[in-house]
Amino acid sequence: MNTDALKSKYEKLWRDTCEKVHAIHVDPLERKWIAISLLVIALLVTIITIDALFHGINPPSKVETIDSASLHLNKEFAEENLGVQVDDKGNITIRMVAGRYSFFPKHIDVPAETKLTFRWVSMDVLHGVHIPMTNMSTMIVPGYVAEVTTTFPKPGEYPILCNEYCGLGHNHMWSNISVIAKEDWKSPLKTPATGDKQ
Ligand code: CUA
Repeated sequence: MNTDALKSKYEKLWRDTCEKVHAIHVDPLERKWIAISLLVIALLVTIITIDALFHGINPPSKVETIDSASLHLNKEFAEENLGVQVDDKGNITIRMVAGRYSFFPKHIDVPAETKLTFRWVSMDVLHGVHIPMTNMSTMIVPGYVAEVTTTFPKPGEYPILCNEYCGLGHNHMWSNISVIAKEDWKSPLKTPATGDKQ
């Protein structure tokens, strides 16, 4: 009985609202522009959804914490573990540390057209990393691990830029990655650096 009363009350409210909305005069030109803006919004939402579902372009959402003050004592981000590593299944992981004012290691070689998992940490303050022409763009928040998966479609030199203001040297905080053709790239673990110079 009570629910019926509530129901009819809301039905009346809905009808009144509809009547009021219909009573508003909207100029035909304005109506067109409303339709165009709704279409633009629908288009953008569709693009974002397709990118998220099919191209793997997502904000990093996995919250993984780390003690920034003791990165050098941390097993994963100790100096000798930084850079490119390949596990037995062939998955490539790149671990990099951002600190005022550089990315470490200073230079890495990665293969093109291959899925790469980057794991970034900061040793001091908030940094960001942006690699133009790729989906690599993330904040590197001290205390957290930022993980981004990407693929470089074409070989070449790619800049790594810091895109969060981190101090007076912020504009000089950049580094670069050499992306090498898939067939020319050598896994760092399987090929020792000795005796390979030409
Ligand atoms: Cu690091 Cu700006």
